[in-house]
Amino acid sequence: MPPPIPPDSLFWGTSLLDLKEMFSRTLVSLVTLLFSLSALPGLSLPATKNLQASDPCATIAGQKWVAPADVRACFTSFPVDPVEQANIVTASTRILGFHTSVNYQIRAPQPFTVDVHEDIIGDLQRISATQYQNDLDFHIDVSRSFKRLGDGHAAYVNLCYDGLYVNYIPLPLVHLTDNLGFQHVHIAPEAFKVAQAEFPDQIDFWQNALPGGLKGNLESLNGAQVLLIDWKPPYVAVDENAAISGGYQGFGTRQNSFFSSYSRAAKQWSYVFGQFASQSLPLSDFVTLTVLREGKIVPDTFTIPFRSRISTSAVAWADSPSFRANNCKATNGTNGVDYYASTPNNNDDSTARVQQQPQISPADRRKHLLNVILDVTPPSDVPLPPEIAPALPPLGGSYSVAQFYYLNDTQTGVLALGSFSAESFSDLQQSLLTGLQNLKTAGAKQLIVDVTNNGGGYICIAHWLHRIIAGPKDTTEPQAGLYTEARAQPLAQAITAAIADGADPDGHLMYNPIHWAFANNTLFPAKYDWLEDPVKKVINGRDDLFSQKLGQECQPFAIDPPAEGLFDSKKVAIVGNGRCASSCSLFSIAMNKLEGTKTVVFGGRSTVRQQYCGTVGGQSTDFRTLNSEIKTVKLTGNPLAPPDFLTNSVVGITWRLGFGVWNPEEPEEWQDHPANVPLDLTKDNINNPLAIWNDVIEAVF
Ligand SMILES: *[C@@H]1O[C@H](CO)[C@@H](O)[C@H](O)[C@H]1NC(C)=O
Ligand SMILES: *[C@@H]1O[C@H](CO)[C@@H](O)[C@H](O)[C@H]1NC(C)=O
Ligand SMILES: *[C@@H]1O[C@H](CO)[C@@H](O)[C@H](O)[C@H]1NC(C)=O
Repeated sequence: MPPPIPPDSLFWGTSLLDLKEMFSRTLVSLVTLLFSLSALPGLSLPATKNLQASDPCATIAGQKWVAPADVRACFTSFPVDPVEQANIVTASTRILGFHTSVNYQIRAPQPFTVDVHEDIIGDLQRISATQYQNDLDFHIDVSRSFKRLGDGHAAYVNLCYDGLYVNYIPLPLVHLTDNLGFQHVHIAPEAFKVAQAEFPDQIDFWQNALPGGLKGNLESLNGAQVLLIDWKPPYVAVDENAAISGGYQGFGTRQNSFFSSYSRAAKQWSYVFGQFASQSLPLSDFVTLTVLREGKIVPDTFTIPFRSRISTSAVAWADSPSFRANNCKATNGTNGVDYYASTPNNNDDSTARVQQQPQISPADRRKHLLNVILDVTPPSDVPLPPEIAPALPPLGGSYSVAQFYYLNDTQTGVLALGSFSAESFSDLQQSLLTGLQNLKTAGAKQLIVDVTNNGGGYICIAHWLHRIIAGPKDTTEPQAGLYTEARAQPLAQAITAAIADGADPDGHLMYNPIHWAFANNTLFPAKYDWLEDPVKKVINGRDDLFSQKLGQECQPFAIDPPAEGLFDSKKVAIVGNGRCASSCSLFSIAMNKLEGTKTVVFGGRSTVRQQYCGTVGGQSTDFRTLNSEIKTVKLTGNPLAPPDFLTNSVVGITWRLGFGVWNPEEPEEWQDHPANVPLDLTKDNINNPLAIWNDVIEAVF
């Protein structure tokens, strides 16, 4: 094995990035210098050619696959526009006035104190006073500050950079346990199959990039054990990524995000590459892996390049000015509107592009409340290879993200549920009832609910699923979810006061009392100013204001629920990789803590506590929606009102926070959710839902 050398590509680190940026900046300035020299009288350089070469965004224009360094050269070629910097900081800071968790996240309660300790308002102040080498550096600082909240609802996304290109290598990794119980990182056994199907136009590039005997032999890396990543033990790379990946409080969950997995999408079973093999910013150029291939006794070390693929939602450009104009400025989907002056075009909604749920109908988006996480990487549309996708026929009632299977043990039904949203709310609601009834009729006595990579969705679908499984009882009727509170900062109070004064006669606004209920679950009267008398709290030494405790708003349901529970809740297992957020958390927590349902998390490190869910929230919302509320009640002149974004930015927040089940005085968000059963992934069940379900039967029932 070659001696360890200083890594030439530090994963996800910043120090090397800075070096690379210095390098590319030097190149750019050299070219600029040449170009400016050419403009001097007496010097004649082939000016047109150099002019094009000197525009790093022109270099990559119109290409599907490019080297990450070339994307970075474009992204880092823009200095920070001080007007945009101030605008992003002010708009983000003020919208966080509506985020319930700002003061909690300065120092989260146990068991998440070590994981979450971010003063986001303080960091935004720091950022406003910082000078950056270029606009990408500025963006990364804002984005990572939000990610340190460990809250998938609270994200800052700039569609100019995040996910505009996705950085890939064809080697997704998995975390496997061997016969003796030892855990190792491996290249996914299906890596080549997936890469060949997804990257037919790029696979040869990687085949040819491999050195020596590996050249053209990408497939031989399938299943190989990974001994070193950039000359360090693989868990170093796993943990470096977990430190900045955000989205979940739990460290174990962020570790799991590094690895490939699957999800049930609206149209198919999808393959999720994981954060090692797909990155939302072009920050890594190469990775050097030392691996032990199957059947070999001598390890191989090789360096493989990342390639950046352009997003289908990027708007074409020719040069730097058009890149910036077409992709980096606010669009019709960025800011809100006064609902009484114009109708928002929901097809434009920028937030929808990063919500981790299928496309939903605009009518349902207006009508039904959401609790869903944002992610800079759009939901995967890569099919899970047929060899590992469930081969069983789905039962009647299956619809979109909800698929029902009756297993051949003749005892177990499976509900694979990739999201709590689907295009149609009512079709999803009916599907869950019909599918579970069909499983019961077929003979199922126990139920597996697979929520792998379920980022949430409709709040009332979570309540509905809890209610129809568990039946009518005091834990499901009338409240099948969590009691909640909203934040009651002065601008929110001004909105409810304006609504009480008649500013929203047609009931369009989220802050309208007609949507909400007292803690005794009776609806507020119309015209009631529900934030007039806020609850004062001191959180981490800071004064804060919240609404009174809010009751449920989902029941009565539009469909009559069955008179009896469909399954014995203790014969239900909720299964996943821990990446179950938002409405998925609302459902799983209610089932686990109120009904005694078992939770199973697969694939995690055996030494790390596995949370079965994270990012609980209560209800999520975003900049555009809140900006519309403010415009509709004509409060844009309020000194606390955020300005419109000038950039192609999205901010998400937690708008209502659920109270705990076991400790009802404190938010559920930072209460513990340890999985009852950690399940190993092995060569036999990796990324194979049916094999995992069979192992769950053995481990749980
Ligand atoms: C944005 O909205 C304006 C006004 O409704 C419209 O004229 C324009 O075409 C829209 N732009 C895009 C890109 O849809
Ligand atoms: C049930 O299915 C599993 C997985 O497909 C298979 O291994 C097993 O042999 C089957 N059992 C029966 C009784 O058919
Ligand atoms: C529910 O609580 C509100 C506020 O305390 C009260 O005005 C109302 O009468 C209560 N309703 C019922 C049915 O108890």
